[in-house]
Amino acid sequence: MPDTSEIVRLIQSRIPLIVIESKEELQVLDIISKASTQLRMPFYRWTVTQGLYRLDGGNSRHQTPREPEEVLHHIWSTKISGLYTLVDFHHYLEEPKHMRMIKEIALYGEKRRQTVIFLSHQCELPDELNHLAAYFQLSLPSENKLMQTVAHVAGQWVKEEKHRKVHIDKEALQMLVQNLKGLTLTEAKRLARNAIYDDGAISKNDLPEVAKAKHSLLNKDGVLSFEYDTAHLSDVGGLAHLKKWLEQRKSIFLGNGNQNGLDLPKGILLLGIQGGGKSLAAKAVAGTWGVPLLRMDFGALFNKYFGETERRTREALKMAETMAPCVLWLDEIEKGIATSDSDNGTSKRLLGTLLTWMAERKSAVFIVATANDIQSLPPELLRKGRLDEIFFVDLPDRETRQLIFSIHLKKRALNPAAFDLEQLADLTELFSGAEIEQAIVAGMYSAMGHADQLTNDVLVSEIIATQPLSVVMKEQIDYMREWARDRTVPAH
Ligand SMILES: Nc1ncnc2c1ncn2[C@@H]1O[C@H](COP(=O)(O)OP(=O)(O)OP(=O)(O)O)[C@@H](O)[C@H]1O
Ligand SMILES: [Mg+2]
Repeated sequence: MPDTSEIVRLIQSRIPLIVIESKEELQVLDIISKASTQLRMPFYRWTVTQGLYRLDGGNSRHQTPREPEEVLHHIWSTKISGLYTLVDFHHYLEEPKHMRMIKEIALYGEKRRQTVIFLSHQCELPDELNHLAAYFQLSLPSENKLMQTVAHVAGQWVKEEKHRKVHIDKEALQMLVQNLKGLTLTEAKRLARNAIYDDGAISKNDLPEVAKAKHSLLNKDGVLSFEYDTAHLSDVGGLAHLKKWLEQRKSIFLGNGNQNGLDLPKGILLLGIQGGGKSLAAKAVAGTWGVPLLRMDFGALFNKYFGETERRTREALKMAETMAPCVLWLDEIEKGIATSDSDNGTSKRLLGTLLTWMAERKSAVFIVATANDIQSLPPELLRKGRLDEIFFVDLPDRETRQLIFSIHLKKRALNPAAFDLEQLADLTELFSGAEIEQAIVAGMYSAMGHADQLTNDVLVSEIIATQPLSVVMKEQIDYMREWARDRTVPAH
């Protein structure tokens, strides 16, 4: 137990005051109890409701001063060596008399071998006591401990359900334990219980709920939003090269594969014209790999937290690391870190924070950044090695357009075989995926007045009436293609 030896070490160093901030009261008391056994020191606990009790075996005579002042007076006057754990004393710290009494106890604590431990969910000592104190933080449960916890919860369910079996998908169990990392034991237990008690099983279906609950426990300021709605790569037409690239890296990223000295995939940048499916592809990476998708909200960083952008960014990135393995989605990254000087350097500093983190991070956080304006992208971000690859998402070719028609028709319960996909693909040259989808949606509205279902003819007339964006934006698109030729890899 590393926590016990850490506490033992602190007590042995004769530091008179120890502050432990934790919501895990029982767990901490257990650790202190172990430390008291090792050190052969009496262990007392005080709460305002129960007074002071000796908790270790030893001399069982009860001492029960209840009032805060009484207990301090008691510790001071008995001079008995011991670990005095004051639970929730933070309410009474500000009282000048208490402060003075604690100081006196602390000043003589070394000689008398008295250690006062303050245990509260949150506790900050007044300045004049701080130099006499050490702060101790409970370590978060290890993977092993989490696995035991899940097993324990499963065992409880079996007992309550009169020995029915819990169905456990091994891979999902591994992922569940990964998902619980970063939480305290009680929190982890609660989420494990939610996962098991609804259906007596641990399956992949539980994972999004668990990730979402964890996110809401950890995410205090909303810079990272949890995207519940992920997609699957089969929802994305085309992008074959990108899909293959992701498939090859999946097992290494999830830590299942034989690592063979391969580096953990870091991330990709998807560059391309509007409506090409970049955002959709980002969602699909998370969905296909079965990991949570977290989206960085640049708007909140710049507006809501103006002036603390960097700190919030660092906190958000740390939070992403505790959610690992996960996908961190930086959508329309040029809006966050555009190289403009108009914001007093805020976006430059944000970029700096991001790049430093990218270079140092060790955990499985896969970045998917998307952008459609290359001119405002800072060259530092594009430098080789920051991200693994830059993919260019061009307009879909003929075959891909057929696929996209087919995907979106099916999605709306229409049978693609009832449409002339070749003709539709021919007519939609220069259309983006979003425009193809839009044509189907508009077609369905038109059809409502006539035939009830969308027909090929209605769809064709809808397409003919559409002017795709790429025609209007021809110059920009040509420029982007030219730029992308030597610098990026085609996603299709
Ligand atoms: N390759 C594709 N396959 C299937 N659907 C697509 C494809 N491309 C676009 N779509 C459809 O168009 C919608 C909008 O696309 P998406 O938002 O992903 O584009 P984008 O490249 O992120 O555009 P923007 O640059 O405007 O953010 C998607 O939700 C999807 O329904
Ligand atoms: Mg987008």
